[in-house]
Amino acid sequence: MAASRKAGKVVYTCSSCGGQFPKWVGQCPECKAWNTLEEGIQVKTTAPNPRFSGYAGEANRNCVRTLAEVGAEVQSGTPTGMGELDRVLGGGLVAGSVVLIGGDPGIGKSTLLIQTMARLSDSLPTLYISGEESPAQISLRARRLDLSCDRLRLLAETGVERILALAREESPAVMVVDSIQTIYTEQLQSAPGSVAQVRESAAQLVRFAKQRGTAIFLVGHVTKEGALAGPRVLEHMVDTVLYFEGEAGSQFRLIRTIKNRFGAVNELGVFAMTDKGLKEVSNPSAIFLSRHDEDVSGSAILVTREGSRPLLVEVQALVDESPLANPRRVALGLDQNRLAMLLAVLHRHCGVAMYDQDVYVNVVGGVRITETAADLPVLLAVLSSFRDRPVPKRLAAFGEVGLAGEIRPVPSGQERLREAAKHGFERAIVPRANAPKRPIKGLDVIVIDRLSEVLDIF
Ligand code: TYD
Ligand code: MG
Repeated sequence: MAASRKAGKVVYTCSSCGGQFPKWVGQCPECKAWNTLEEGIQVKTTAPNPRFSGYAGEANRNCVRTLAEVGAEVQSGTPTGMGELDRVLGGGLVAGSVVLIGGDPGIGKSTLLIQTMARLSDSLPTLYISGEESPAQISLRARRLDLSCDRLRLLAETGVERILALAREESPAVMVVDSIQTIYTEQLQSAPGSVAQVRESAAQLVRFAKQRGTAIFLVGHVTKEGALAGPRVLEHMVDTVLYFEGEAGSQFRLIRTIKNRFGAVNELGVFAMTDKGLKEVSNPSAIFLSRHDEDVSGSAILVTREGSRPLLVEVQALVDESPLANPRRVALGLDQNRLAMLLAVLHRHCGVAMYDQDVYVNVVGGVRITETAADLPVLLAVLSSFRDRPVPKRLAAFGEVGLAGEIRPVPSGQERLREAAKHGFERAIVPRANAPKRPIKGLDVIVIDRLSEVLDIF
């Protein structure tokens, strides 16, 4: 412990002016800002850092080379055995990469990782570090999920120095640290979970991953405000950030790529939580669609494109007379401001006023829609509820609504239309520029230029 304390001196750095001080004070002596001093470790830059030396391959790693020379060494992704996880990782797990998995407590982070690690352990050396559960608890869960437990190595530990010492002996190809908030470094005095601890522990793990080529999964808890603790700090340090989404009551769990150095962002992986752990959902369109037997008003089907695959999602709206002076606009799974804007366009360009109505909009299944292709279906659902007239059955829609009341095209129109046809949809309302070049079998495509045209369609 004493030896590791020598590795770096504790300094307090002002996050506003960058000034460094040996003691914590409430006000920065230099820039006079309040509460900006953060605990950290001073790394000596003049002498070689002992933590960087002594590893195989280190000598030839830090020399100037052309991109072509480097490219040959980079390993492409190793499949994890979970197709949906590979999808959000951008094809598989890359050696030396650090993946941060965030999400609410109890959403299934540990379950996903124990399942993945058990599969990987058949072919690769794997190490699971738990700072939250005891080995007995983890083993019990693995047994209940019928996972192969023979080769997965397990350690319950929270000190990052001891974790890394052990990891050096074990040399795992894949390592899980569950969770980063429980891990601490002996070099800092602050409590585990504090920003300084999280940042420094993660920095040491990232360094280890890069030096040894070990792929590391870091589990991160989400704070009440919805941010990963150590706000934004971890996101910069890691290669990939995955986020669990989903409603508490729902059985479905979505994993979204927030950042990825090896692939596209906004990819969506879909799982279902069952009594035998997480199961992949390979045809997610089916789960987000309504199962209404008869026509109901206030429901429209959107063809969204989350990441690289199109997805059919139901958008529901409820428009009801409001007793309030300021009627409510509630959007779940959508941007609230966007909803207010769409209602203003509806009023200005179609003459449909909702200033005395409460408007609630919900995206079914706990999906969060971030793309503007949802504009048109949202307004279809709102109009349908307002007029109490169901949107015709087997009709899907997508399209961006502009402030001038025009319907603007969205990317990958063809692909969306094909997905709708595949799921038995017979009609689609789309922007003119998204009209298919050749007719799609079984699908009647209605192209529109302006929002006012939808008033005549149903
Ligand atoms: P867990 O992976 O422990 O969550 P996290 O690590 O994100 O905090 O998930 C625990 C939840 O998952 C718990 O509420 C029970 C549920 N669960 C199942 O429904 N089936 C299962 O087979 C397992 C292992 C967990
Ligand atoms: Mg957990």
